[in-house]
Amino acid sequence: MIIGVPKEVKADEKRVSITPDKIKGLIDAGHKIILESGAGQDAGFPDSAYLNVEIVSGPAKVWESADMIVKVKEPQQEEFKHFRQNQIIFTYLHLAAVPELTSELVKTKVTGIAYETIESNSGSLPLLEPMSEIAGRLAPQIAARLLQSDFGGPGKLLGGVPGAEPCRFVVVGGGTVGLNAAFIATSLGARVTIFDINLDRLRSIEYRYRGSIKTMLSTEEKLTDYLTRTDVAIGAVLIPGASAPKVITEKMINEMNPLSLIIDVAIDQGGSVEQIKSTTQSNPTYIKNDVIHCAIPNIPGSVAHTASTALSNATYGHILYLANNGVENLIAKNKPFAKGLNTLNGHVTHEALAKSLDLKYVNVVEAL
Ligand SMILES: NC(=O)c1ccc[n+]([C@@H]2O[C@H](COP(=O)([O-])OP(=O)(O)OC[C@H]3O[C@@H](n4cnc5c(N)ncnc54)[C@H](O)[C@@H]3O)[C@@H](O)[C@H]2O)c1
Repeated sequence: MIIGVPKEVKADEKRVSITPDKIKGLIDAGHKIILESGAGQDAGFPDSAYLNVEIVSGPAKVWESADMIVKVKEPQQEEFKHFRQNQIIFTYLHLAAVPELTSELVKTKVTGIAYETIESNSGSLPLLEPMSEIAGRLAPQIAARLLQSDFGGPGKLLGGVPGAEPCRFVVVGGGTVGLNAAFIATSLGARVTIFDINLDRLRSIEYRYRGSIKTMLSTEEKLTDYLTRTDVAIGAVLIPGASAPKVITEKMINEMNPLSLIIDVAIDQGGSVEQIKSTTQSNPTYIKNDVIHCAIPNIPGSVAHTASTALSNATYGHILYLANNGVENLIAKNKPFAKGLNTLNGHVTHEALAKSLDLKYVNVVEAL
């Protein structure tokens, strides 16, 4: 297969989809790589580190030649013109949040495989996990900065000092993002409570982090109560493939303290906070109802070197499998991987996505 690696074009996105150490394995398996010049530059991987690949300037030749495009973020409007029938686009798609991209992929009959809906045999999300770990670990760092008065915050030190209390965190969603955020925030001295609707999840957190992280079953009443006293709320819920449920409502926000901070990590799935709007790395916040809102859809993009390495470590085996076996084989033999197929032959082939966007769902076998 010819595998294309274009440079990312989303605002402030510096990650690259394949790091140089994965190239040899792909070439040894008989595949060819075509890389857009500069694709890895901002993540600390210059063209010269990519050995035995074809390097071209600009995206057009990459999209034109490749059987499979491997990216980081969902294709942007300026990339739609490159779409062509049966080309595989393998990347984070987050289609429930971008209906216009979904229609374009369907219209042009692109095979859209989303990292974030691929499952492992145990039902975990192995290609979302590394970015969730990073976004979760970065969230308290972002919070620490935004709580400072020189960044427009209330002038609070996350961990406090003896005699001055630490900040309170509410984390909604105790999965990979939530647990990593809680773990780092408590390490920095904050007081953290994780809310989730999955009692087993809460049980495992409680048994492991008893005393340092508090857990709560997420009900509207309890969450409202905690939010009135919190300094930082982190939205970290997920229903794979679907739009994020709006767990933090306008009514709850109205009761939060002035200059308290909401970081909605789930913004890439449409956001877990009512009326939330996307922000960017360079313009990370806005204030509404006296509360600071931060909703950056590509948080790991700011640690592009670590994030590219972690992403490529996780995707490498899947890229190799797909390139060696093709889509038909994937559908026949690898059901957990086939859950990544969001669009195929002009159909929406992910049930939760189809439901979220009110589109017709066709299963992958029929679509093929
Ligand atoms: N902004 C970014 O840069 C970035 C990066 C990585 C991941 N994410 C997003 O972060 C979100 C969380 O990802 P994850 O990997 O931690 O998912 P996960 O599946 O590991 O965890 C999600 C948790 O949310 C819980 N949940 C679901 N509905 C809930 C509800 N109504 N109330 C409370 N809890 C609920 C689930 O029980 C689960 O424990 C996803 O939307 C993901 O796409 C964003």
